[in-house]
Amino acid sequence: MKITVMGASGRIGTRLVDNLRQAGIEVISASPTFGVNSVTGECLRPAIAGADAVIDVTNAASFGDDSALDFFRASTRNLLAASADAGVRHYLALSVVGTPRLVESDYFRAKMVQENLIRAARRPYTILHSTQFFEFISGVIDMGADGDSFRLPSAYIKPIAADDVAEILAELAMGAPRNDTLEINGNAQFGLDEIARMHLAANEDSRQVITDDSARYYGVELNDDTLLPLKTARVGALRYEDWLNRSMAD
Ligand SMILES: NC(=O)c1ccc[n+]([C@@H]2O[C@H](COP(=O)([O-])OP(=O)(O)OC[C@H]3O[C@@H](n4cnc5c(N)ncnc54)[C@H](OP(=O)(O)O)[C@@H]3O)[C@@H](O)[C@H]2O)c1
Repeated sequence: MKITVMGASGRIGTRLVDNLRQAGIEVISASPTFGVNSVTGECLRPAIAGADAVIDVTNAASFGDDSALDFFRASTRNLLAASADAGVRHYLALSVVGTPRLVESDYFRAKMVQENLIRAARRPYTILHSTQFFEFISGVIDMGADGDSFRLPSAYIKPIAADDVAEILAELAMGAPRNDTLEINGNAQFGLDEIARMHLAANEDSRQVITDDSARYYGVELNDDTLLPLKTARVGALRYEDWLNRSMAD
């Protein structure tokens, strides 16, 4: 079996490539680092030729204004067209739990366009919706920066380790297309304000977190459950506390 990983140099991509290779899969690593560009189309067709599956774990370099929309629209169109020409039997993409509820944000509107293009292409596919990665929690906290403190809502999240996401995505890629969207999350639920306090305490950062339910996430006001999955397919094994301890020790 041969699989092309688009976004192979990224947070999920590097882990995914390792997992697939360990499972004996022939992997083509693709991204600008490897001379392959899904937006301009540079070396895209040779990277996909002969692949049984294509996994899209790319991300836009910039999220503001229309840049994420331009990225995901062009990249997904090119990837789908090249996959169709190559007769790829399974197209997979990683997206975010709650995307349809977050489309007020430029970034999530772009992810929605990516997903809709995949569904409209009528090719066998699997879309995996993941909750926020543990590795991304510091970025979520920074969104709430307000001078010397942070303003974050108490809305719930169930974050998951990038290692768990990559493991589940590799398993899905080796299986049959689901022609559906599956959801995965971590094994514990936290308020955004609560996880920010845990993260800052572990980093011996004394800055205060102020609970503010009107504070926005990517410009969107959240309900308690906006960021929670509706129907979880799989739960990641790693606990946030253990991951924090491990990353502090590294
Ligand atoms: N962060 C979260 O908590 C979270 C949660 C759920 C889902 N997701 C989704 O997970 C996906 C992957 O996220 P990540 O954090 O692993 O991303 P990342 O670490 O930022 O990696 C992005 C990847 O995209 C590649 N890329 C950028 N421009 C490209 C282009 N023009 N052509 C081909 N490849 C290109 C990069 O390649 P180079 O390094 O070579 O430029 C890199 O390999 C995203 O789509 C995101 O929406 C994220």
